[in-house]
This record gives sequence, C-alpha cells and structure tokens, in this order.
Amino acid sequence: WILPAFVLLLGYLLGSIPFGIILTRIAGAGDLRQIGSGNIGATNVLRTGRKGLAAATLLLDLLKGVAAVFTGAALLDGGGPMAGAMAFIGHCYPIWLRFAGGKGVATMMGVVTALYWPAGIVFAVVWLGMLFGTRWSSVGGMSAGVSAPIAMGAFGRIDLVPVSLAMALILLWRHRENIGRLMKGAEPKIGSKKE
Ligand code: G3P
Repeated sequence: WILPAFVLLLGYLLGSIPFGIILTRIAGAGDLRQIGSGNIGATNVLRTGRKGLAAATLLLDLLKGVAAVFTGAALLDGGGPMAGAMAFIGHCYPIWLRFAGGKGVATMMGVVTALYWPAGIVFAVVWLGMLFGTRWSSVGGMSAGVSAPIAMGAFGRIDLVPVSLAMALILLWRHRENIGRLMKGAEPKIGSKKE
C-alpha cells in the first residue's frame, strides 16, 4: 500500500503549489487573495493587469496536472488517474492555504489532457469557445469541466469517466459563488471596466 499512498500524496503535493499566489508575490503585484474575486487562479491574476503573469499562472497550474499524471503513471500501474485527481484536489484544497484553494479549471485541463489528449482538445475548445463567446471566465471553465466526462464517454474511455465526472462536480462546487453571481447578473466579464 505504500506505493499507492506515495502516488496519491505526490499528486496532492504537486497540485497544491499555488502558482498564482507565488507569481504575483514574486512580481510584487500584491496578495492575490485581496484582489478581485480573491481566487488564486489565472483569471484573478489577470485582474492585477499583468497578462504575462496570468498566462504563466495558467500554464503552470495546467502543467502541474500533467506532471502529476505522468509521474503517477510511471510509478504505478493505474497511477495516472489517481495522481491526476489528487493534483486537482490539491489545487482546490491546498493544505498551505488552510484548504482554501482554487477552482480547478487549469489543473483539470492538464489532468484531462495528460490522461487522454482528445478529451483535452475538447476541453480546450469548449473552454475557449465559451470564454470568448460569453466573456465570463467562470462559464468557460464550468462548461469545459462538464465537457470532460461527456467527451471521455463519447470517445469510449469509459474507464476515465468516473475520475472526470468527480473533477467536474468538484469544479462546479468550487464555482458556487460564481454561479450565484451569474444568477444575480453580477458576474464580471473578462476585460470589462468593472474588473
Ligand atoms: O477558473 C476560475 C474562473 O473560472 C473564475 O475565476 O476569479 O472569476 O472567480 P474568478
């Protein structure tokens, strides 16, 4: 049992690295949790006005999901989904931030892409399409998250449906404040002056 436990822990620790907070702090752009929505993800880094920093946050939060899946798969048969799911949980509930982490969009994109890249393409297309179509980052992220278990099933990767579905449900739960704002018509759009 030691190896599976190690794979789970490694995935969690990788996912729990809060790149958004680290990068904004290094760049001297303030404490991300005091800015905008207070979230630790790339969308909120964008609200500091630093586009490059936001892009780097998106990429690193995505790559930690990829790294977890590949490391888990290399260490243990079936370890990819285990470590990937734990990286996603680590991002959303990092011990370093008293379990108050991010919303999981970038990390889920990395995990899904590393597990089965065609579903990753669907994720990215839905995400970008809905993001640019509505200019609500949360709507883009939630739509992409929901697309992952559907895409896995449609591509015949039934084995990866449970892990994708679990991540999608947690991702939606992490967006519950965004859902509340959307229903009240108060969710800010990307690039709007109110941001
Ligand atoms: O991935 C996070 C995004 O979907 C919403 O972020 O900061 O607008 O709550 P935020």
